[in-house]
Amino acid sequence: MLDLHQPPATLPAASTAALPVRLRRMRRTPALRALVRETRLDPAMLVAPLFVRPGSGVREEIGSMPGVARLSPDVAADEAARLAQLGVGGVILFGLPETKDPEGSEAWADDGIVQDAFRRIRARDLDVVTIADTCLCEYTDHGHCGPIDTGGVVDNDGALTRLAETAVSQARAGADIVAPSAMMDGQVGAIRAALDAAGFIDVAIMAYAAKHASAFYGPFREAADSAPAFGDRRAYQMDPANGREAIREMDLDLAEGADILLVKPALPGLDLIAAARSRYDVPIAAYQVSGEFAMIAAAAERGWIDGRRAMTEAVIGIVRAGAGIVITYAAADLATWIREER
Ligand code: PBG
Repeated sequence: MLDLHQPPATLPAASTAALPVRLRRMRRTPALRALVRETRLDPAMLVAPLFVRPGSGVREEIGSMPGVARLSPDVAADEAARLAQLGVGGVILFGLPETKDPEGSEAWADDGIVQDAFRRIRARDLDVVTIADTCLCEYTDHGHCGPIDTGGVVDNDGALTRLAETAVSQARAGADIVAPSAMMDGQVGAIRAALDAAGFIDVAIMAYAAKHASAFYGPFREAADSAPAFGDRRAYQMDPANGREAIREMDLDLAEGADILLVKPALPGLDLIAAARSRYDVPIAAYQVSGEFAMIAAAAERGWIDGRRAMTEAVIGIVRAGAGIVITYAAADLATWIREER
């Protein structure tokens, strides 16, 4: 049998000058590497999530997400201004309402927490895109993304009217883009129709088209207090094993009027980002979710990896795969690092 641990008795003669191609030539100096770099990050392609909670002057750190905090609407507006200053492209808002109910009615309350924050951000006239996460799980007392029917199932079509009303209320408060993330069938079409009927023809839809039922949303559910009270989301979010089905989700969302397609989570979905990029001519976004962020942050805190390099490498990989927009909790840090490296 061939023993792989033993070198062959006679080594082939080392060839030197004869190599036809030497890729190391272009790796020799920082300047050469910069010249041939294929993927560059720009702060304008990054979107920072903001968690908005009641109160004023409040900044409440989130244990599982170092550096990320729940902010009262006034502080969220300050944070949006800081991000705009750093050149970050957008902010996406999530709300922690004062009260929750089975319907999630605070989601479409015109004086709701996220609506308040959008109005304050709008009032600053910032050069930053305002995006609303359009879902009900942060607002329902049971933590599911739609109302529960009498059989105990999340009611798809009942969710649609509420999601549409939520999107219109978010648009009224100043969202440039609404991002439906509930994974209800038909949500993009229902939202598009409602926005148009309300006169918001210019409010765009970023569809969380390919959203897997992922374990990587764990820290987010702590941050947004949105863990389901019973069961899980596998009857509406996609099985992480499925890629062809993700393409069908994206086809449907485009047909229903999506302006941007989003893949989530990002690193476990790199194949879908690449497939979406080659298949569609719309902007492709990816969400580096809470668990992806927390893994890097936690390992860095322990001194196990270089957090700055690991975060940059992960986001570069997401962009190299084909994402032109990246939602990331590291947006402010990345924007700062990108500027330092120029
Ligand atoms: C709302 C929503 C979730 C995330 C984004 N929008 C939670 C979920 O689906 O459970 C997760 C984002 C993250 O983990 O960073 N449905």
